[in-house]
Amino acid sequence: MIMHLLLPIFSLLILSQSVSQALPLSTQSRWIVDEKGQRVKLACVNWVSHLDLVVTEGLSKQPIDVIANKILEMGFNCVRLTWPIYLVTNDSLASLTVRQSFLNAGLTDDISGFQANNPSFLDLSLIASFQAVVTSLSDNNVMVILDNHVTKPGWCCSRTDGNGFFGDTYFDPNLWIQGLTKMATLFKDNPNVIGMSLRNELRGPKENADDWYRYMQKGAEAVHSANPNVLVILSGLNFDKDLSFLHNKPVNLSFTAKLVFEVHWYAFTDGSAWKDGDPNQVCTRVVNNYMRTVGFLLDQGYPLFVSEWGVDLRGTDVNGNRYLNCFLKWVAEHDLDWALWTLVGSYYFREGVVGMEEYYGVLDSDWVSVRNSSFLERISAIQIPASR
Ligand SMILES: *[C@@H]1O[C@H](CO)[C@@H](O)[C@H](O)[C@H]1NC(C)=O
Ligand SMILES: *[C@@H]1O[C@H](CO)[C@@H](O)[C@H](O)[C@H]1NC(C)=O
Ligand SMILES: *[C@@H]1O[C@H](CO)[C@@H](O)[C@H](O)[C@H]1NC(C)=O
Repeated sequence: MIMHLLLPIFSLLILSQSVSQALPLSTQSRWIVDEKGQRVKLACVNWVSHLDLVVTEGLSKQPIDVIANKILEMGFNCVRLTWPIYLVTNDSLASLTVRQSFLNAGLTDDISGFQANNPSFLDLSLIASFQAVVTSLSDNNVMVILDNHVTKPGWCCSRTDGNGFFGDTYFDPNLWIQGLTKMATLFKDNPNVIGMSLRNELRGPKENADDWYRYMQKGAEAVHSANPNVLVILSGLNFDKDLSFLHNKPVNLSFTAKLVFEVHWYAFTDGSAWKDGDPNQVCTRVVNNYMRTVGFLLDQGYPLFVSEWGVDLRGTDVNGNRYLNCFLKWVAEHDLDWALWTLVGSYYFREGVVGMEEYYGVLDSDWVSVRNSSFLERISAIQIPASR
């Protein structure tokens, strides 16, 4: 009962916090701070815009402003918005209209949904539609992190999908830097775009630390010179679980106070260990491992952004439920910044399936009801800063 009463109060606090932030953000040791030096805790939710149709999910279900307000009402202050490189480097893709993209896929029901909920989007080009989403989030005081998720539009991530590491079929480092530069430039005058996450989940047979330094440093410099306001967010190797190479060799950049590292952590990261083993022992082992591979960066004076985590919100996955207990404790203890996977209630088209439901999504497939309110109550404790 008490939690039911607290939830709206927490949401109001977050709301007033987000209104008062003096942007842009920067870093001060391991904390993210605003212009006045006040700590800003990122409590973000991932919103998907990198799949085959290259249209931000859910817009056939609810008006964009309704979704933006719902994000705040649920206690989040920011969105990690995913995008594919081709959206800014392939002009024939970027200039397709939203309507054409759905027609090409034969998804006429969604076109009717757009007509009802977001008619002004239908004849926007894909790039203009992406910009309109960022504008709406900004107008509603939601901070935005632009996350380059893949090069070629589509569901991510496997070791062999050609989008995993520099030199893979779809991952030309020069095209990537060109794409990052274009995206950074496009939003350089929007203060609500507070960060850019350079590439999601590096992985696959080609991955190695030498190329990581070579290209991530180049990408970081390119983004910073195109938009010096944004936080530059770097992910690690092995699906963004490993930054241990930084123990011995720091990143060498020309700028300071903008660098953030990101990490991903799900239950399935450790297979079925949570279900099979003693949850307390597994928790100790896995947390120790994370501290060694990424958590040490806090002591080195960098913010750590847990940019993907989440569970099946139906509550029936024992492995996931046990992981969640451990995860929430870890995030609270270190007062980390984070982004939940995901806002998405359902996808237009994912991996060949039309209208696929997303059980990790905080919104239901109607894109306005909360899928599991007891989950939201639980995470409200980590949505507000514990310190500073
Ligand atoms: C560019 O986009 C168009 C339209 O989606 C597509 O047909 C074409 O294959 C793309 N080109 C590349 C190089 O991916
Ligand atoms: C860092 O980068 C600068 C500029 O590229 C270079 O001159 C310098 O030698 C590098 N420092 C280290 C320690 O690699
Ligand atoms: C929400 O999650 C909890 C477990 O965390 C579960 O017991 C409950 O059934 C879920 N509710 C719904 C509506 O799925």
